[in-house]
Amino acid sequence: MKKEFREMLKERGRTEMPKVLLAAAECAPLSKTGGLADVVGTLPQDLAKLGIDARVITPYHKVIKDKYRDKVEHLFDFEVLLGWVKEYVGIERLEVNGITVYLVDNEKYFGDKIYRGGEPEGQQYMYFCRAVIEAVPLLGFDPDVIHCNDWHTSIIPMLAHTQYIGSMQDSIKYLLTIHNIAFQGKFGFDFVHGLLGIDPGYYTYEYLEHNGCANFLKAGCVFSDRINTVSPSYAGEIRTPYYAEGLDGILNARGAVLTGIINGIDKVAFNPHSDPSLPARYDRGHLKGKAKCKAELQAKMGLEQRPDVPLVAMVTRMTEQKGFDLVAYILDELMNTEDIQFMLLGTGDARFEDFMRGAESRFPGRLCAYLGYSEELSHLVYAGSDFFLMPSRFEPCGLSQMIAMRYGSLPIVRETGGLKDTVMPYNKYTGEGTGFSFANYNAHEMLDAIRKALECYKDEETMQGLIGNAMKEDFGFERSALDYARHYIWML
Ligand code: ADP
Ligand code: GLC
Repeated sequence: MKKEFREMLKERGRTEMPKVLLAAAECAPLSKTGGLADVVGTLPQDLAKLGIDARVITPYHKVIKDKYRDKVEHLFDFEVLLGWVKEYVGIERLEVNGITVYLVDNEKYFGDKIYRGGEPEGQQYMYFCRAVIEAVPLLGFDPDVIHCNDWHTSIIPMLAHTQYIGSMQDSIKYLLTIHNIAFQGKFGFDFVHGLLGIDPGYYTYEYLEHNGCANFLKAGCVFSDRINTVSPSYAGEIRTPYYAEGLDGILNARGAVLTGIINGIDKVAFNPHSDPSLPARYDRGHLKGKAKCKAELQAKMGLEQRPDVPLVAMVTRMTEQKGFDLVAYILDELMNTEDIQFMLLGTGDARFEDFMRGAESRFPGRLCAYLGYSEELSHLVYAGSDFFLMPSRFEPCGLSQMIAMRYGSLPIVRETGGLKDTVMPYNKYTGEGTGFSFANYNAHEMLDAIRKALECYKDEETMQGLIGNAMKEDFGFERSALDYARHYIWML
């Protein structure tokens, strides 16, 4: 055990590292719609290296059942009350990458989509939170800390401290990680009261109520022992009205326990040197393989076979968060004035998908919009592209830009949240930098940054230097795991 931890524990009269249960709606590689899943799947592996037994509890989604049915072990089952209805809860166990994952099974709630949207999604996750809190004493694991993630699990601390007073659930410590403040879990109080039986006395501004709704993320901020978000910059930003989506009041009130811990990426899953999904492998000193990946990407996606043309890529959820309106605003201008190729892999808002379909037909052989979700293709896009565009309106951390750097695709980002904390803009005087950036949420500022990047592309030496810098960065989870370990111990 690290000396630092031994001393911290001693001050608290303990010798053993805390046991942690991470509760989350998704967990890679089992289920994934975005970065949350990557974090929940990777962090416990690095915590284990620090001697922390961290396990995960997550819904037994259909995607998991379809693939892992034979590997799952049924531990026990019981019933919970959701309103006046008794609901089945199966607790299954699966080992993934050396980590114990508990899966909450009920096909009524998790038989199709991970997120059903609207009130149906509220039902899914109110059921899940009730199931988790009831399952905890039965697991034979006894966590010291429950680590909640986003609104889908953020009502758990409130339930523990208001409905389980004096029980083990009440004495557990709670860390809430905010991965995305744009989603808060807002519902009518009657709906929430009907399913979770929350005392109307808590439906006030001090606790659950916010702008006339029951707000799960707010309740999480009120009842958790500590709160963190996924980058230092975003931790500052969400204390301001522009970024806080209405929660700046509570976050400032709890400012003393609010911190930012930057995410890492899974360096094994994302490694150009050993990635089995690539046609050729490469590393910092040997980039020939990268050129092969580019050729393969062009061939697969119907782009002209040209090694010389700069290829700008995006792998993204297509929402306003990701700056898609900026892209839509200047895409034609960019394609008409520069000799480039553009590759998008993403799904999201219909208006952006329609726009990209149109763009694909306007620029055949030069622009490809693959509107879908494909883990395998995403690796080829990171490896085969020269630049990775991520002009987010806000970005709590962002994993894609880190993955891109690891694959030697230089990020072009807006200076916000985790993008600002992870991408060092190119300095033409010193040659330092790992990418390109712009400050304001403005389409033409973004276009300027893209043009700067394209300028560098013309000079092979500059490009080689930048790619080397980007690939040298260490975005592993070790650093974050150390910080999370400190947070868990502080709470004991
Ligand atoms: P967010 O979680 O906000 O979507 P992140 O950058 O933190 O953003 O994480 C996104 C993760 O999801 C990355 O691992 C990225 O490669 C992956 N991803 C996003 N869209 C797709 C897609 N269409 N196909 C495959 N992977 C995707
Ligand atoms: C959210 C954020 C993203 C972050 C991810 C993992 O989806 O949008 O910025 O990287 O969570 O924390």
